[in-house]
Amino acid sequence: MKTIGCFVILLALFAACSAPVDETERKINDLLSRMTTEEKIGQLFQVSLDNTVDERALQAIREGKMGSVINVVNPAVANTLQKAAVEESRMGIPIIFGRDVIHGFKTLAPIPLGQAASFDPQLIHDCARMSAVEARSVGIHWTFAPMLDIARDARWGRIAEGFGEDPYLTARLGVASIQGFQADGQLADSHALAACAKHFAGYGAAEGGRDYNTSNIPPLLWRNVYLTPFEHAVSAGVATVMVSFNDNDGIPSSSNKELVKTILRDDWHFDGLVVSDWTSMDEMIAHGVAKDLKDVALLSIDAGLDMEMVSPAYLLHLAELVKEGKVPETAIDNAVRNILRIKFRMGLFDRPYTDTSVPPAFYTEESLQLARKAAVESAILLKNDGDLLPLSETQKIAVIGPMADAPHDQLGTWCFDGDKTHTVTPVGALKGEYRHINYIYEPALAYSRDKNTARFDNARRAAAAADVAVVFVGEEAILSGEAHSLSNLNLIGVQSDLLKAVKSAGKPVVLVVMAGRPLTIERDLPCADAVLYNFHPGTMGGPAILDLLFGRANPSGKLPVTVVREAGQIPLYYNHNNTGRPAPDKVTTLDEIPLEAGQTSLGNTSFYLDSGRDPLFPFGYGLSYSSFEYSNLTLPGQMPADGAITIKATITNSSRTDGTEVAQLYVRDMVASVARPVKELKGFQRVWLKAGETKEIAFELTASDLAFFGRDLVRKIEPGEFTVWVGGDSNAQLKGVFSIPK
Ligand code: NOJ
Repeated sequence: MKTIGCFVILLALFAACSAPVDETERKINDLLSRMTTEEKIGQLFQVSLDNTVDERALQAIREGKMGSVINVVNPAVANTLQKAAVEESRMGIPIIFGRDVIHGFKTLAPIPLGQAASFDPQLIHDCARMSAVEARSVGIHWTFAPMLDIARDARWGRIAEGFGEDPYLTARLGVASIQGFQADGQLADSHALAACAKHFAGYGAAEGGRDYNTSNIPPLLWRNVYLTPFEHAVSAGVATVMVSFNDNDGIPSSSNKELVKTILRDDWHFDGLVVSDWTSMDEMIAHGVAKDLKDVALLSIDAGLDMEMVSPAYLLHLAELVKEGKVPETAIDNAVRNILRIKFRMGLFDRPYTDTSVPPAFYTEESLQLARKAAVESAILLKNDGDLLPLSETQKIAVIGPMADAPHDQLGTWCFDGDKTHTVTPVGALKGEYRHINYIYEPALAYSRDKNTARFDNARRAAAAADVAVVFVGEEAILSGEAHSLSNLNLIGVQSDLLKAVKSAGKPVVLVVMAGRPLTIERDLPCADAVLYNFHPGTMGGPAILDLLFGRANPSGKLPVTVVREAGQIPLYYNHNNTGRPAPDKVTTLDEIPLEAGQTSLGNTSFYLDSGRDPLFPFGYGLSYSSFEYSNLTLPGQMPADGAITIKATITNSSRTDGTEVAQLYVRDMVASVARPVKELKGFQRVWLKAGETKEIAFELTASDLAFFGRDLVRKIEPGEFTVWVGGDSNAQLKGVFSIPK
């Protein structure tokens, strides 16, 4: 027995010695073997500091009690703190500095929802790259972006911060963003930021769109929709993941072991760092699942959270929990390992300091041009009656409204570091590059919520004196973003009345919206001959909008979210499941219902009596100054169960204007073991077509694109019939079928 035991031990030792131990893991193990429990716990703590050197913080760092710092953006301060960590603490482990760099650091691209409207992964990549270069130059190593939450509710203010309602689009753009931040896999590059896939998970499904609220996402929806972008982010090598504030079905993500340990670590093999959200661990006391901070520490370490953002549960209680035998020291070791791994991968042990001899380059010509391109590609033309747009540069323009010259507000949410004095507003562009335009400017309202109508007459007179009125309305930056939910999505304040007043002057009206979310503008459409919708467009929004209004650029943005008619229609999204009683194309309206109509006389289908079946504008929708026609859909009749097919179609630009069309591929699994969405985006591409040009486009669709989680929570491809559509939005009409044989 003894001999067999020794033999087994020898065998294990031999296996351990002969297994190739990665050099980083060897270094991590070496550090761990020399760290005290207190020093290990210190690595798990992220502290928010301002931009001054605080003696208490320095002392804590020297004692090894701070693994990460959030919110320092002064490189000299960061270097001083780093020196205390690297040169004055016992273990010399560098600090990782984090900051929310969401759609830019100084130079701001459009908010992520706007960037999503471009359907342009390369653009999203480049914007993230630009943000990383700027942020890294002041000593930031880690950004808390991209936000990969699926948002099907525009009342939720954070819809601004993500890529919209669709898991496929969010996954593709999320991956592009991660690659941009992380310098295409070169995390050790001195211009890279570690990205953070957040908020894991289900945060966008907050009940009623009220931020931080509970979500109730059942297992299939969880896996088939809400987790999808995160899985792609992990495959793409995202360095870190942040858990969300919400509880899903009673389990706050900060204590969700199945989510973090089973799904993220075991199923997806994520070996990066998992961070809590800001005090999200502590907040489990308010959720009512922990009675005190000690309970919190136990729940979160057990769930697999590595780093605690800001609250001190780990710092205060982990050591005690280890002593009591409630937490194994190996749990702490694992968390430290995940944190050190990212510090090593970023090269922080070799290059802990920021070079302050080179002044940071902000707002460079190159960045400004990129921000302008991004704003152009992100704008969505929703209406253009009588081809009112583009305007001629010889027309006299009345420029009206509170968003025409709102340098702070056009930057949108999450711009801690952007400087509004660098913003170019539409009025700013008219004073600069577009100064040859003959225009009259009348803001009429001081800001979007302003209710003072005293200047409406001036606005009407300005419109009357011009050839065309362009009315800039929308939302101030503060009305969207974290904790900024709304229950009413109409244009806020008296902006709709302003539009009416301007329309009464009898001149053509262009409505330009700048907002953090899709607003319910149905009531405004009769007063606008053309509508150009911008999700807050960032630093260069002004010139970008003028480029579009005057036809120097051609709109190509498409809606990354459904635009509802009324907030009461929410949730309304294109990739819903069918009911057993889907409504017909034409449904009865309120006005059509006869008096004392019989109970069943309207039929029994699924729609609202007052707002119908359909949204105002569908997902994927957006016009252009060109017109595109789709034809010749060709596809093989069958796809092998482990293979792929090529779906081809022809697009013709039947107009006299060169332009870009975002061609979209949708698929429906017709009969499956569980109800599947009526349509799902499975491909898109931006196609540039000269006036009159025809091009053939091709989409590769693989069987694995059609896989989904069924009742047994196993991802599978089910044979059967599939319908495909190709077109310019989610109502695409070009239709074909194929099947996967049994
Ligand atoms: C709370 C937000 O939910 C999260 O997205 C952000 O990264 C942190 N605060 C840090 O500012």
